[in-house]
Amino acid sequence: MQPSLTDRFGRRISYLRLSVTDRCDLRCSYCMPKGFSGFEEPENWLRFDEITRVVAAFARMGVGRVRLTGGEPLLRRHLPQLVSQLAVLPGVRDISLSTNATQLHKHAQALYAAGVRRINVSLDSLDKACMEKITGRDSFSSIMAGLQAGKQAGFSPVKLNMVVMRGVNDHEIMRMAQFCFDEGFILRLIEAMPMGDTGRNSQYMDIGPIRDELVKAFQLTPAAEELGGGPARYWSTADRKGTIGFISPISQHFCATCNRVRMSVDGTLYMCLGQEEKFELRPLLRAGVSDAELESAIRNAIELKPERHEFNSQRHKIIRFMSQTGG
Ligand code: GTP
Ligand code: 5AD
Ligand code: SF4
Repeated sequence: MQPSLTDRFGRRISYLRLSVTDRCDLRCSYCMPKGFSGFEEPENWLRFDEITRVVAAFARMGVGRVRLTGGEPLLRRHLPQLVSQLAVLPGVRDISLSTNATQLHKHAQALYAAGVRRINVSLDSLDKACMEKITGRDSFSSIMAGLQAGKQAGFSPVKLNMVVMRGVNDHEIMRMAQFCFDEGFILRLIEAMPMGDTGRNSQYMDIGPIRDELVKAFQLTPAAEELGGGPARYWSTADRKGTIGFISPISQHFCATCNRVRMSVDGTLYMCLGQEEKFELRPLLRAGVSDAELESAIRNAIELKPERHEFNSQRHKIIRFMSQTGG
């Protein structure tokens, strides 16, 4: 085991978000524009052996959590095969997945068997027509089937990600909370981030006042246990059966406790969701570097990690879409 990975601001890096494809079968209004065609060429996608090598290097430096993201990760063929390669790596202790769930009914069991234990699913509305408007496709029924399949396969917890948008889905928050309590899902309310034109046009809402309302309506108190490795702050009902997480990158950022970096499908490490600093690992991997050289490159890359995002002061800075880094 190597010394752990720590950035210039003393933050320990323990979580790698892996985007396994930049493609998606939906076009959520805050994530990827309709008609987008600037996808990465297949020859630039890291192969499973290359991804596994990178994750092994991170794991040797104490990065024990890996999240598979997209685009939509289930569009990457043979994903359970990759999961089983990652699950046996020494040091990897948590493999999770962020998905839109449209294909989850087909893959849930195989993913669980391979080693994914918890999933986060995007669901912004319980109204079929509203979901069609937000996602650009008739997606509601397949997502519902995916959620049920996820539950049956044994993923725990199942979290639902709802990007709150004024005049689009904000009237559904109470209903969504009740739905999640009834179904045993953890609801997370998320502030839209200005990534590319799509994210910038997302009817942003401050979730602070919404949290206050929910706290009052359901008599929530801060949750005691750790419910993942991410930036959500959780509140629970008195019987602990209902939990809601709040993700507030804009109104109350959480960069001081940031523990993560991202790798896109082409092997680029992105140091921060809201900044441009990055480092390309693919050329090194394909030039046949040693493990020691790979680790040293990763350590140097972490030195580039910026202190925080600038979504508030520089709304137009980040022109890449959320789908390129997977959130
Ligand atoms: P767990 O806590 O491990 O369940 O994961 P997570 O909540 O970090 O993952 P998920 O993919 O479900 O992300 C939920 C939301 O949080 C998305 O909108 C992400 O873009 C956002 N998010 C996750 N990590 C960060 C981060 O480091 N910075 C910012 N600004 N947003 C993040
Ligand atoms: N702002 C905030 N969250 C976003 N997501 C996608 N795009 C944005 C955005 N612009 C969220 C989705 C998905 C998660 C991985 O990222 O809710 O579930
Ligand atoms: Fe970390 Fe950047 Fe996210 Fe802040 S915006 S929590 S620094 S990745």
